[in-house]
Amino acid sequence: QILILDFGSQFTQLIARRVRELNVYCEIHPFNKIPPITADIKGVILSGSPCSVRDEDAPIVDWQEIAKTLPVLGVCYGAQMMAQMGGGEVAPSSIREYGRTILNKVNNRYALFKDVADDTQVWMSHSDTIAAPPSNADIIASTDTVKVAAFKIKEKPVYGIQFHPEVTHTVLGKTIIKNFVVDICECSQSWTPDSFAEVTIQELKEKLGDDKVIMGLSGGVDSSVAATLIHHAIGKNLYCIFVDNGLLRKGEFEEVLESYKGLGLNVVGVDAKDRFYDALKGLTDPEAKRKAIGKTFIDVFDAESHKVEGAKWLGQGTIYPDVIESVSVKGPSVTIKSHHNVGGLPDFMKLQVVEPLRLLFKDGVREVGKALNIPQNILGRHPFPGPGLGIRILGDVTPEKVQILQEVDAIFINGLKNSGLYDKVWQAGSMLLPVQSVGVMGDERTYERVVALRAVTSVDGMTADWAHLPYEFLADVSNEIINKVKGVNRVVYDISSKPPATIEWE
Ligand code: XMP
Repeated sequence: QILILDFGSQFTQLIARRVRELNVYCEIHPFNKIPPITADIKGVILSGSPCSVRDEDAPIVDWQEIAKTLPVLGVCYGAQMMAQMGGGEVAPSSIREYGRTILNKVNNRYALFKDVADDTQVWMSHSDTIAAPPSNADIIASTDTVKVAAFKIKEKPVYGIQFHPEVTHTVLGKTIIKNFVVDICECSQSWTPDSFAEVTIQELKEKLGDDKVIMGLSGGVDSSVAATLIHHAIGKNLYCIFVDNGLLRKGEFEEVLESYKGLGLNVVGVDAKDRFYDALKGLTDPEAKRKAIGKTFIDVFDAESHKVEGAKWLGQGTIYPDVIESVSVKGPSVTIKSHHNVGGLPDFMKLQVVEPLRLLFKDGVREVGKALNIPQNILGRHPFPGPGLGIRILGDVTPEKVQILQEVDAIFINGLKNSGLYDKVWQAGSMLLPVQSVGVMGDERTYERVVALRAVTSVDGMTADWAHLPYEFLADVSNEIINKVKGVNRVVYDISSKPPATIEWE
């Protein structure tokens, strides 16, 4: 495997995903918490950072010590730190070194640049620049303005590059990463979705034995794939619970339950709609609504799980971005992200947690899902918030409003699917607004509800752009909604990006 040491760059996870796309396993660890260097670690990548190596308290690692036994690749800050500590020099750059630029004088006699020709486009993003490489290094690529775009330590498989190979704007970035990981570090490309599934199922068998596992399913990708892995390991000893909170999409409870049964999962569907509606009665504040929904879920889940006697484990669909320790390089300490899935075990459920996906990124989860033959209607689903339509009905939630929004949402989502647009957007949904507007239908004046449609493109939901859906499509959907859904006379489309807006309206 490859060890990635994180200095706090926003691109560190992207480096890891690129390595894994090569079917090579890698882990991200904070620069100041280096794990024991075991024999299975074949090389180390030093990430970028928002810091400057010229800062007094700049984060550093003793890369020369690591380089005694392992290949090293420093990326951006990683390379600058190597230069600074290795007898070179880092200075503030006098010209802007940001964005696309052309790499030339590439010396492709070096393994890192195999199959990388001159004049390839790379992506830079730094305000410091390497004025002189480490004392025992050769410069192996430049750009018109950056002399030391890449260097190699003499006689060692140790490299530094100032550009970012992990972003797609670096056209041959994948080749460069492959050269490092596969050729230089000699990692075998055997970490495939199939092998992951096989190894994980075997490990789960050993870990769980004859124990019973309880798991809440949401219909989403992560919990579905996690449950399927556990199911393959322990069969009917996995007890799945799927709660209808009355805030799901139209027909979703029945459809998802059917899919789960098709996968052979031992799943109980619990109709708790009324409990959720009761808990939400009169609540208008978004956070109060979220809390009420969360608490009701725990109550319902707890009651249901007590029906499974002697359960020892709680299965969860936690994925890697939720467990990577994030580095806080600007402060003195390393903080751990508090995510709702991590340690989300209520005290009164004295169960151990089993999380078969905790090493995977979202794209990896989908790949493993494919390897397990989970149908595309589950794997390709848009993310859907836990509180569901509860936070898409602005203001108080009633069963009547849920029904209106379900109809609107079904027309929008089916429209996207029928037009081949569903897979092109990252998430889509509709909001029922707490306003009424005047309209005219036939000869009659109407005074009815307004709905907003929202569709976004995104990679991880952290930032998002509104999806530029075709006007004709929006026109058709709007017509269909106003004609078919009683009580709605106006449709608007949300054209706000995140940030500054969020994806959900509440
Ligand atoms: P925002 O609205 O923060 O949403 O831009 C980002 C992503 O998170 C989802 N989301 C939630 N998911 N519980 C969830 O499980 C929540 O309370 C919640 N709020 C937002 C949202 O659907 C989007 O995918």
